[in-house]
Amino acid sequence: MAVKTIITEPNKLLRQISKPVENVGKEEQQLMNDMLDTMYDANGIGLAAIQIGIPKRIIVMDIAKDEKKEPRYFVNPVIVNRDPIKKTHEEGCLSVPGYYEEVSRPTAVKVKALNEKGEAFEITAEGLLAVCIQHEMDHLNGKLFVDYIS
Ligand code: NI
Repeated sequence: MAVKTIITEPNKLLRQISKPVENVGKEEQQLMNDMLDTMYDANGIGLAAIQIGIPKRIIVMDIAKDEKKEPRYFVNPVIVNRDPIKKTHEEGCLSVPGYYEEVSRPTAVKVKALNEKGEAFEITAEGLLAVCIQHEMDHLNGKLFVDYIS
């Protein structure tokens, strides 16, 4: 368990495309714990591994507003379906501190991924969960939410 340093724009690492995880083992689980500690410490709701400088396709999220933590883990996430209807939502990013902008994205996405135990699962995300997953998945592809704004 450790709080890591979150890298920020214009650090070039944020533009790197993260690599798929071959095996979810102890090292990856340790990384996910560190990512959660780092995210909670920064009062964030999502974090991609590259934001602490690790180019692996791993995301952690917790959109629960109450005290009770509800961590979510996405390893090698893939969007398999997108709702054609888009909606704008104000986004921010721990790697772009102090900056908030409206971004238009599909209102719902179906995502396949592995969990923290390496088990495959599928989720249809809507609302804030859909926004957050898409934002974090952009990080895995070296993209930041500010790229949507001209
Ligand atoms: Ni972000």
